[in-house]
Amino acid sequence: MRDSHLEDFYTFLRFPSVSTDDHYSQKLNECAQWLVEKLSKVGLEAKLVATAGYPVVWAKNKHQKGRRTVLIYGHYDVQPADPLELWESPPFEPVLKDGYVFARGATDNKGQILSHILGVQEALEQQSDLPVNLHFVIEGEEEIGSGNLGNFLQKNKQSLACDVVVVSDTGMVAKGVPTLSYGLRGVTALELKVTGAKMDLHSGIYGGAVANAATVLARLLATLHDNKGRVAIAGFYDKVEPLQDWEREMWKKLPVNADEEVLKVTGVPALFGEEGFTALERMWARPTAEINGLGGGYQGQGTKTVIPSQAMAKLTFRLVPNQNGDEIVDLAKKHLKKNMPASATLEMTSGHSGPWYFTDPNSTFVKAAMHALKKVFEKDVALIREGGSIPIVSDFRNVLGVETLLLGLALPDCRAHSPNENFPLENLDAGIRMNKAVLQELAA
Ligand code: BES
Ligand code: MN
Repeated sequence: MRDSHLEDFYTFLRFPSVSTDDHYSQKLNECAQWLVEKLSKVGLEAKLVATAGYPVVWAKNKHQKGRRTVLIYGHYDVQPADPLELWESPPFEPVLKDGYVFARGATDNKGQILSHILGVQEALEQQSDLPVNLHFVIEGEEEIGSGNLGNFLQKNKQSLACDVVVVSDTGMVAKGVPTLSYGLRGVTALELKVTGAKMDLHSGIYGGAVANAATVLARLLATLHDNKGRVAIAGFYDKVEPLQDWEREMWKKLPVNADEEVLKVTGVPALFGEEGFTALERMWARPTAEINGLGGGYQGQGTKTVIPSQAMAKLTFRLVPNQNGDEIVDLAKKHLKKNMPASATLEMTSGHSGPWYFTDPNSTFVKAAMHALKKVFEKDVALIREGGSIPIVSDFRNVLGVETLLLGLALPDCRAHSPNENFPLENLDAGIRMNKAVLQELAA
């Protein structure tokens, strides 16, 4: 690994570009500006495009008639670093330990998108040209649902015309095993606020006679699943496509023991989930209802005998083909309303949402990408679906009319969204080689 590559990686990681928290907005803008400068130095024509939110970084080489056009997408925003006390080194001060770089965003998505930038840099240095017409589109709102990027695509639809999109923002089934994802789950968010009394009350004076908002919320949330781990919202599974035999067979042959891997990486005492499905099937092809955040009542030291007036929860649902996010939110709202007692009130606010994605694993572009991956990693390519979401991918299809190649470089234990996120330099290097090989292959 070249020193200058490592330096670029560190500089990129030092921007605390947390999109969900306004407090960091200046840093997101600075990070985007740095990318424009980096891409310009690489030899591309790069600019910042303002949106209603954070700016989009857009760069291209000199396009020539008769060549394939490839759009490489990534994001410079990151998830919040909390809980800070669980980091072994500060999240925005990257450090290298045993070949792994530790920092928020190391894998998701800075390491992965940087490997493409550096691949292009090396190709331009070595050949002074690329084999394809190229666009880089790097946004700052992926982790909050890409709310303004669809508009950017609409507005620039003509200029962004391309043959295929390449995204490295997904996983590898294991280190050294090249992985192509032909599917993603979607996601849709819903926030709940339960209010009982108009203020917090003495639990001795009023306890037993007025509803406790935290208890009401806990009981309500407990209605989301049945005892077997299935989502208990009426109609939730109505549109879910059953898993096909070819997929189940293909996944069984993957060179990983997913159950063991999940136990090892997460540290849970036992697996959990819907009966009749393997861990991989539960994570990649089945929908979920998750509580992402939960609050209410006294959180300080010691005890406080109080009946909280309010309690809140942040929920998201992961969606699979052919579920529709708006429909699922409606079904969930109906379910929650129906299960609310008269003793308290419920407010519901829906949040960001992104559809699922599924592309043909036998398409010509997928075959070309697999060929390149096999050459670079010298191993057979794992064809998988992913449990995570990349909201804009369905817009690449709907607005630009093209399919997306998801060429992941994230390792199962990369700790994306968790403390001590990391990315091995080995993968930064592999990503650089992958970028060059994929562009070559797609050019043909
Ligand atoms: N890189 C992830 C998506 C991902 C992770 C795909 C793992 C496949 C495997 C992406 O940055 C992400 O975290 N997306 C969010 C989107 C949401 C906030 C709208 C997600 O999936 O939670
Ligand atoms: Mn992410």
